[in-house]
Amino acid sequence: MLDRNLALEVVRVTEAAALAASALMGRGEKDEADQAAVTAMRAAFQSIAIRGRVVIGEGERDEAPMLYIGEEVGCGDESDPQVDIAVDPLEGTNLCAFGKPNALAVVALASNGNFLHAPDTYMEKIASGKLGQGVIDIKASPTDNLEALARAKNCSVNELTAVILERERHHDLIREVRSSGARIRLISDGDVSAAIATCMPQTGIDILFGTGGAPEGVLAAAALRCLDGEFQGIVRPRNTAEAERAEAMGVVLDRVYRLNDLASGEVMFAATGVTPGDLLGGVRYTTRGAQTSSMVMRSKSGTIRTIEADHSFILKPYLDHDRSGR
Ligand code: FBP
Repeated sequence: MLDRNLALEVVRVTEAAALAASALMGRGEKDEADQAAVTAMRAAFQSIAIRGRVVIGEGERDEAPMLYIGEEVGCGDESDPQVDIAVDPLEGTNLCAFGKPNALAVVALASNGNFLHAPDTYMEKIASGKLGQGVIDIKASPTDNLEALARAKNCSVNELTAVILERERHHDLIREVRSSGARIRLISDGDVSAAIATCMPQTGIDILFGTGGAPEGVLAAAALRCLDGEFQGIVRPRNTAEAERAEAMGVVLDRVYRLNDLASGEVMFAATGVTPGDLLGGVRYTTRGAQTSSMVMRSKSGTIRTIEADHSFILKPYLDHDRSGR
């Protein structure tokens, strides 16, 4: 159902969002960059032959005019697939606003009902590549997880690199990982990219620990389903209102959600680099337009396609978000 032709179509959606956001890279205006990505992604969806429904998006209908939860996107008819859609048009708004690495435009698709409807709250997460399957355990201590992963990888703990969001809430976690001997990549934002990096040996990242956005957890799980990685998450609301909202959406608090609980069935994932990063190049301007680097993958085939595109702003002027600058 989520066939390879659709995969190539879906990349156009993340490319459009990345091109729009990157035009505002480094300006220090994260909301404007996010809005540009949202607007471009929504417009691009309208030329994709799907009957899509946003289940992870920009928020509730009353707070987000575009790509809100429940919004229908795509130009498909009865013969086209009905899909649930998870979007993060600009994952790492600050990364883009300050020109830092690893900002992405991200989309995931699944058959109806196959994504956890995660509200805008936090999720405790642990992620690794395939060798962590049946080995890492979100309920165990970071030290135990690092020792178990080191055994599975046949290396010592001090050869492992953990990636952790640099946040005050992670002080104890960071202290424990340091005392275990493992190396750490502290990141300022972008834990979807970091979770994917655990499955890509060239990044040198072995494991992700810590708490970040719950919607980003579902997107990361969709990617790791395709990459045959390991991911576990526990929804961690910040207050009673968030807890009530999560429960109203069907989330079981304190439950360990595994890959198939977060993103089940056939899943497709696409991302385009906004700023240069561990996984993908960022948007590069050329004399005739811009180049983008994207990845698209499907759980069904396990193929990871990287797509380098050279866009002509002459033939597609609507992709040019920065006419004045050049
Ligand atoms: P935004 O793109 O919405 O700014 O999110 C970036 C991010 O770093 C995510 O990757 C991460 O899951 C979340 O924010 C962490 O939340 P917080 O900044 O509140 O710690």
